Amino acid sequence: MSFFEIQGSTPLSGQVRIHGSKNAVLPMMAATILHRGTTILTNVPRILDVFWMIGILKTLGCQVWFEEDVLTIDASVVTSTIIPQYLAEKMRSSIIFLGPLLGRCNKASLWYPGGCSIGSRPIDLHAEVLRAMGAKIQEDGEHLDVTAETLSGCTFSFRFASVGATENAIMCAVNANGKTVLNNVAREPEIRDLCRMLVKMGAKIDGIGSSKLVIEGNSQLHNSSFRVPPDRIVAATYLSAVTVCGGRIQLCEVPVYDLRAVLAVLQKCGCRFRKRKSGLDVWCYQRPWAVPYTKTQVYPGFPTDVQSLLMTVLSKAEGVSVIEETIFEARFHTALQLQRMGADIQINHSYAQIRGVVSLHGADVTAMDLRGGAALTIAGVSAEGKTIVRAVEHVFRGYESLERDLAAMGANIVLKQ
Ligand code: UD1
Repeated sequence: MSFFEIQGSTPLSGQVRIHGSKNAVLPMMAATILHRGTTILTNVPRILDVFWMIGILKTLGCQVWFEEDVLTIDASVVTSTIIPQYLAEKMRSSIIFLGPLLGRCNKASLWYPGGCSIGSRPIDLHAEVLRAMGAKIQEDGEHLDVTAETLSGCTFSFRFASVGATENAIMCAVNANGKTVLNNVAREPEIRDLCRMLVKMGAKIDGIGSSKLVIEGNSQLHNSSFRVPPDRIVAATYLSAVTVCGGRIQLCEVPVYDLRAVLAVLQKCGCRFRKRKSGLDVWCYQRPWAVPYTKTQVYPGFPTDVQSLLMTVLSKAEGVSVIEETIFEARFHTALQLQRMGADIQINHSYAQIRGVVSLHGADVTAMDLRGGAALTIAGVSAEGKTIVRAVEHVFRGYESLERDLAAMGANIVLKQ
């Protein structure tokens, strides 16, 4: 098992380019099978989840080439509609093949998806919307079989704006007969990006970026290429890092608009930034300030994916902060690891009360999930002494090289086996 060895506490200084977005590229990769031809994605991050998705695409019969950041997928032929257990278990995002496989082949078969252990991740909303389009779903507790004689457009309102269920519904609707109207859809930037890519492929989608999407089915799709936008959560990681470690950094290719909720909270902590043509200058020269109350919410609210990172920042803030987690209950398990580094955090159901300490100290900690692993890593960079972060395979799922980027900003961090 690999681990990070970090010698803290270093202020940050330097420049880093934000790589392509994980949560944008995964549904885009799944969407390529809607088209009986070739799709090219550029600015694709070389992260573990992308490699698992390539594994799934190849299993389905697609031809895939991945050179540098260019991913070419030829889905002229799909020979299988089964996502094998070992791949489905690796990543939650395997569920994102349900809509496209159904749209392309009228059937799909997969094991319940795995991924981060951040709480129960049901798929009832995915099932509801696909049923509304004519799918029949058989479940046996471990395995899903989905079939549809015909897929018809429908009007459907989500009880909760699930990101994955919205993506599945959009991709299925692109190949369904007639018009689909989806109300109360998730508005995360990655959904906007997926829609833009589908439109470039030839799909007809109205309302992109809003909570109501109208999709005309059965469009003629064609070969196309699309650049994956930069990763807002990776950018939020380095914004959090400079806020907790202090210093001044330049981030290139930052999706500033998509980050406004994160920037607003970090600004309250004392982080300052200036927009530049090529990105963002970010600095923080004093101990962070507490933020009395932050609640994770669906976009455009404060993202659950940045919650553990904010918790690290607030662990060293002057004063008392409260975070309420409303999306994934188990994300607070990173608090137990931060406590080993001297953080004063009390968890009460979905609330975390954080009493900031002047400094964290190095410790031997374990990443429990992807963003929690990143949060512990930046905590290590800001802490006094040596920190070991174990189970960093979680981190590889979403960061090309967290240690390379942090080292480029002056952190003393090495990856060891
Ligand atoms: C996506 C993101 C993840 C992010 C999350 C919320 C990707 C690959 N992952 O995950 O990084 O943290 O959005 O912004 O894009 N739910 C149900 N039933 C369902 C589906 C979801 O109850 O059928 C619940 C979940 O348990 C959770 C909430 O809805 O409490 C949010 O889930 P969802 O928006 O679906 O997140 P994901 O698509 O899994």
